[in-house]
Amino acid sequence: MELNIAILPGDGIGPEVTAEAVKVLKAIGLAFEHTFNFKYGLVGAAAIDKKNDPLPQETIALCKDTDAVLFGAIGDTAYDRDPDAKVRPEQGLLGIRKALELHTNIRPVIAYDDLLTKSSLKVKQIKDTNILIYRELTGGIYFGDRNLSEDGTIASDVCEYHRYEIERIAHAAFKAAQSRKHKITLVDKANVLETSRLWRRVVKDLAKQYPDVDLNFLYIDNAAVELIMNPKQFDVILTENMFGDILSEEASVIVGSIGLLASASIGDTFAMFEPIHGACSNVKNKGVANPIASILSAAMLLDHFNLSDEAALIREAVDKSLKLHITTPDLNTKYDNITTSKVGDFIEDFINNPEETNLNFTNIHLGQSTII
Ligand code: IPM
Ligand code: MG
Repeated sequence: MELNIAILPGDGIGPEVTAEAVKVLKAIGLAFEHTFNFKYGLVGAAAIDKKNDPLPQETIALCKDTDAVLFGAIGDTAYDRDPDAKVRPEQGLLGIRKALELHTNIRPVIAYDDLLTKSSLKVKQIKDTNILIYRELTGGIYFGDRNLSEDGTIASDVCEYHRYEIERIAHAAFKAAQSRKHKITLVDKANVLETSRLWRRVVKDLAKQYPDVDLNFLYIDNAAVELIMNPKQFDVILTENMFGDILSEEASVIVGSIGLLASASIGDTFAMFEPIHGACSNVKNKGVANPIASILSAAMLLDHFNLSDEAALIREAVDKSLKLHITTPDLNTKYDNITTSKVGDFIEDFINNPEETNLNFTNIHLGQSTII
């Protein structure tokens, strides 16, 4: 298969982690005889610096002209500190999501057996957690009208949803549940918000088409507690844009590090794959950024094109890296010399040589031996 992939490294640790995902995709291309062509574009603070625009037209054109987009990270502390900044890096990411109409964001939350003790939660609480969060990505308060009164004392952000926006992501979530544990939990604030009541009505109507899926409802405040108290009760969580942003970041506590959470953002025509973490500018270029979220996002990209053996091999390599503690310091308590690129090298090696022994892998990646 030939795929043209737009690479938007973005800001902070984005370029470092994306480089490892590209390394891994190249290895997959060689191993399975696919041609992946990578085309780079500017977005975020990096684009503001060079083009004075967080989302230059040529970046949108590049994304529309390729088969898929792999996105790094966005954000810069300089802008975070300035509430008056008119141009912000985040406008780049939100702008792409809107321009490509990437309405359905899928965020898997999986508790890896080898990482159970890394979570600050109890092992018995989190073991076997496997959740898919379906986060609506192009509507709601993220994209409603914003207003600040002239005297700067009153501000508003409108949260608006249309029936069709709820229906399209809900269909996707129901279909996903059908191939999993047949359970959906709609998270909302229907006791207060009109938009949430619309979500409930629409999703309840739709549920009639999926009689084999059990539909549940939870208020967001309650869901925030249930998600960490008893995450195993969830299968597919369906929710609107901002609730999904918050819940998915909270869910990273279950997994052990936000550096592990990947996502797919799917529209009717385009698709983008992005780690859920931000730019973490404070650790930029230190070699400590965890590339696994980006690498697993690349695996989701391959799944999107039905390259499921290829995606499975990446996941196997990631599992192996976790088992052998070839991981960055956010997870590692065993070795202190594993950098971002070493994790990528390990996964690349595994793809080239999946039969190799654990001992040889460990020795090589700790630089202790050349016994292969
Ligand atoms: C995410 C991020 C973004 C969001 C930010 C960077 C705009 O937090 O993808 O979860 O809020 O959607
Ligand atoms: Mg977020």
